[in-house]
Amino acid sequence: MEEKSSHLLVLYASQTGNAMDAAERVGREAERGGCPSVQVLPIDRLDASCLPDQEIVIFVVSTTGQGDIPDSMKVFWRFLLQRNLSNQWLEGLHYAVFGLGDSGYQKYNFTAKKLDKRLSDLGAKPLIEKGLGDDQHPSGYEGALDPWLLSLWKMLNTVHPNILPRVSDIMDPSKRSLDHAKIEVIYHSSDKMQPDHLTAYDLESSEVVIESACSMSPAQFHYHDKKPQYLLHMITNQRLTNVDHSRDVRHFEFEASSNVIDYQVGDVLEILPSQNPAAVDAFIQRCNLDPNCYITVKARDTEKQSVYKSIKSLVRPIKLKNFVELTMDVASASPRRYFFEVMSFYATAEYEKERLQYFASPEGMDDLYQYNQRERRTVVEVLEDFPSVQMPFEWLVQLVPPLKTRAFSISSSPSVHPNQVHLTVSIVSWTTPFKRKRHGLCSSWLAGLDPFKRRGVHIPAWVTRGSLPPPPPSLPLILIGPGTGCAPFRAFVEERALQNLTRSTSPILFFFGCRNQSVDFLYKNFWLAQAQDDGVLSADKGGGFFVAFSRDQPQKIYVQHKMKEESKRIWSLLSSGAAIYIAGSSTKMPADVTSTLEEIIAVENGMSKESAARWLRLLEKAGKFFIEAWS
Ligand SMILES: Cc1cc2nc3c(=O)[nH]c(=O)nc-3n(C[C@H](O)[C@H](O)[C@H](O)COP(=O)(O)OP(=O)(O)OC[C@H]3O[C@@H](n4cnc5c(N)ncnc54)[C@H](O)[C@@H]3O)c2cc1C
Ligand SMILES: Cc1cc2nc3c(=O)[nH]c(=O)nc-3n(C[C@H](O)[C@H](O)[C@H](O)COP(=O)(O)O)c2cc1C
Repeated sequence: MEEKSSHLLVLYASQTGNAMDAAERVGREAERGGCPSVQVLPIDRLDASCLPDQEIVIFVVSTTGQGDIPDSMKVFWRFLLQRNLSNQWLEGLHYAVFGLGDSGYQKYNFTAKKLDKRLSDLGAKPLIEKGLGDDQHPSGYEGALDPWLLSLWKMLNTVHPNILPRVSDIMDPSKRSLDHAKIEVIYHSSDKMQPDHLTAYDLESSEVVIESACSMSPAQFHYHDKKPQYLLHMITNQRLTNVDHSRDVRHFEFEASSNVIDYQVGDVLEILPSQNPAAVDAFIQRCNLDPNCYITVKARDTEKQSVYKSIKSLVRPIKLKNFVELTMDVASASPRRYFFEVMSFYATAEYEKERLQYFASPEGMDDLYQYNQRERRTVVEVLEDFPSVQMPFEWLVQLVPPLKTRAFSISSSPSVHPNQVHLTVSIVSWTTPFKRKRHGLCSSWLAGLDPFKRRGVHIPAWVTRGSLPPPPPSLPLILIGPGTGCAPFRAFVEERALQNLTRSTSPILFFFGCRNQSVDFLYKNFWLAQAQDDGVLSADKGGGFFVAFSRDQPQKIYVQHKMKEESKRIWSLLSSGAAIYIAGSSTKMPADVTSTLEEIIAVENGMSKESAARWLRLLEKAGKFFIEAWS
């Protein structure tokens, strides 16, 4: 009989880091279960043509955009889709797929679903049914990962005991041991550094420090280029909602400090937020770290084949404090469960150790959720609650949630505002079940910036292509953007108004929604001006501006209601080749709006709702139906 390989390969595709965390957990548990050879790799590290050489592969993949695969999976996926691959190409492969997604999105976990189907079509055999992690689950994706992993280990133990000899060791907390952290921190004592060296670093521009920090971060793949494309400064910070209204939505304007900002309407600006300096100091003090020592961070030598391989080790040393403030989210995001497990090894007080072990166990998952995620407990707060724990900095670098960039749909046209970029941002804040006030990191930081301060803050930013391509002037448009979803459409309308001065342009119907006419009617004067006289939203131009005030009357009125009222005009514009763009909250709006569009198409065209849904899918295939949604 052919000898069975004992190698387990875990491949992950991640856009913002969660699938990497999940894949690492899969690798860790497999090692605990006695798997003799485990490798966890980003999917772009495997040549897809070598997939038939593998016997068992676990895929952990997230969905991004609107049902899109992560960037790192594109080459792999293109290879898998080749027509010349036979339905037996992967017949020797056993696989399992775990997806990370958010059921608030219409194309829920599409990457995992598509990958599972394609692998099976190519002859690979599923070990177990695919698992689907959901951000909407109270425990996030881990809510589905826990039971899925247990089934996977049981199945492997039964069918391939050489791969996973001991399921019980995975479940038994007393069998857990702590290996080394996977990264290494090298300290460059400032005393030993040449004075001119030091001066040079002190004079380094923020750009170089940010680039070094991002290149050394274990989560460095979050940044498109490690070096920020732009360092922006804020020139306008204007509240758009009434001051006495609980919702705070701002209009921000930025200029680049040196270079020209290159973007198109529909693009997205990614911003790396700053953390509260007092919280960073508190973290450094709590962990007994020297803020002024110079460090470099690299993958431990034994990790050369692992997920940490891509950390650049040849970067310049930077101050520990800079590294923490630029890459480690110590005062906003909640740590993951593994953070509690590692903490338990360093707790010297017995009751703290027990509590941490409980939190890290499957039985403690619900209580951990109540304590940690639901209360949005931060790393600094967790460390304060367990004072006996002193974790080595290596572990903190590996496990503190990475400081992530935030995306914002650009709300200005570059032709109308050369070298400026505008954003329309809802300032996030909420109260937890234990009545703790929490604030969104990036939005509240931006809201607190003062554009009139002489030595303003430099904001690291990157421009990326979003899901909304810039429409040519000849394309009729149906835009639906309630709340801050109006942001990209302010840019579209500005741009078309400018084009309209010199050539003929096609009409735009814009549907906007807010709570009350008097409190959160964002950019009211702009829309109303464009809806009058010769404006691009005016009836004279074949356009229209329709606003739904949800709370100005006893019954709720949303954009969908306004769309139904304009059913004939929508269908007429669609018949003349219009494209549909939807932007805003991912919670329910895109699904409700899409369903309304199907109803309109069905009624106006005399077809069934199923045929109308097919009609919309064809519109999407033709590149005329786009959604940009965020939670
Ligand atoms: C492509 C794209 C475009 C976007 N465009 C815009 C835009 O134009 N305008 C805009 O305002 N935003 C936009 N966003 C959202 C934006 O990126 C941020 O997610 C948002 O500003 C919050 O970031 P933050 O750092 O302030 O909050 P964070 O610190 O990231 O906190 C937000 C998190 O806090 C939690 N949370 C928030 N409210 C509650 C609550 N009530 N109860 C419990 N938990 C809660 C949730 O986990 C939420 O994910 C866009 C997102 C994407 C992906
Ligand atoms: C911009 C954006 C778009 C998303 N689009 C989808 C989607 O279309 N379908 C889905 O199921 N989940 C979607 N999600 C949810 C992510 O898949 C989920 O947050 C996941 O945990 C991210 O994993 P990652 O960090 O490994 O990329 C989206 C998340 C973001 C931030």
